[in-house]
Amino acid sequence: MRPTARASELSRSAAIVVAAGRGERLGGERPKAFVVLAGRPMVAWSLVAIAAAGVPRAIVAVPPGYGAAAEETLAAAAGGFPLGFALVEGGATRSASVRNALAAAGDVDAVAVHDAARPLAPPELFGATLAALEHADAAIAAARVTDTIKEAGPDGVVVRTHDRSRLWAIQTPQAFRAAVLHRALDVSDDVLAQATDDAWLVERAGGSVRVVESAPANFKVTTPHDLAVAERMLA
Ligand code: CTP
Ligand code: MG
Repeated sequence: MRPTARASELSRSAAIVVAAGRGERLGGERPKAFVVLAGRPMVAWSLVAIAAAGVPRAIVAVPPGYGAAAEETLAAAAGGFPLGFALVEGGATRSASVRNALAAAGDVDAVAVHDAARPLAPPELFGATLAALEHADAAIAAARVTDTIKEAGPDGVVVRTHDRSRLWAIQTPQAFRAAVLHRALDVSDDVLAQATDDAWLVERAGGSVRVVESAPANFKVTTPHDLAVAERMLA
């Protein structure tokens, strides 16, 4: 698999950054994506990485009513996108936010969807997932599982131990052929609400999804502990 995307492929791509969550588990005074982390709002770290990767356009889904504040906060990061930068209002669920942002992506061949809550994604990972679309409908960043994974019933009794060599912890970015993502998101709000990632929507529609190996360091900031770890890594 080629590790990076060609310039011609990148020129027909856009990135979607979902930043419209409330950040309830973090419990800050503002939405999680706008909490200041090592001197920048969290979402700005992703925008800087995406611009450095050479993706020419970005669409950010922000919390309803947060557009004006976000515009001001993200003005500096937005400068890195030759084909522009857009803010859209997010939806009630993560995938609804992706759907709203996709409507503003324009005429592109490929889309990389990324969580604002993963500020440590390296630029190369965007190129690597987009390049892997040569072989699949979707290509998703994933870390090898290092813990042994067991499955237990509601009573806590272990029913099986999974084969760790085949298990992956799924991250973002997740890259999609644009037409495939449009079709995958064209479902009821109930189905969208069940999706914990967009690749699942492609899987259930019969599309091919590949993992692209990534480091566990690209973790999702969920709790105050995660925020403290990310702060140290970015400082
Ligand atoms: N997200 C979004 N729209 C939603 C819900 C989530 O754009 N309706 C985004 C978040 O901003 C985040 C990513 O999806 O970047 C992953 O979601 P999560 O880590 O769950 O973030 P929050 O929903 O903000 O956090 P919490 O669940 O603790 O409230
Ligand atoms: Mg959430």
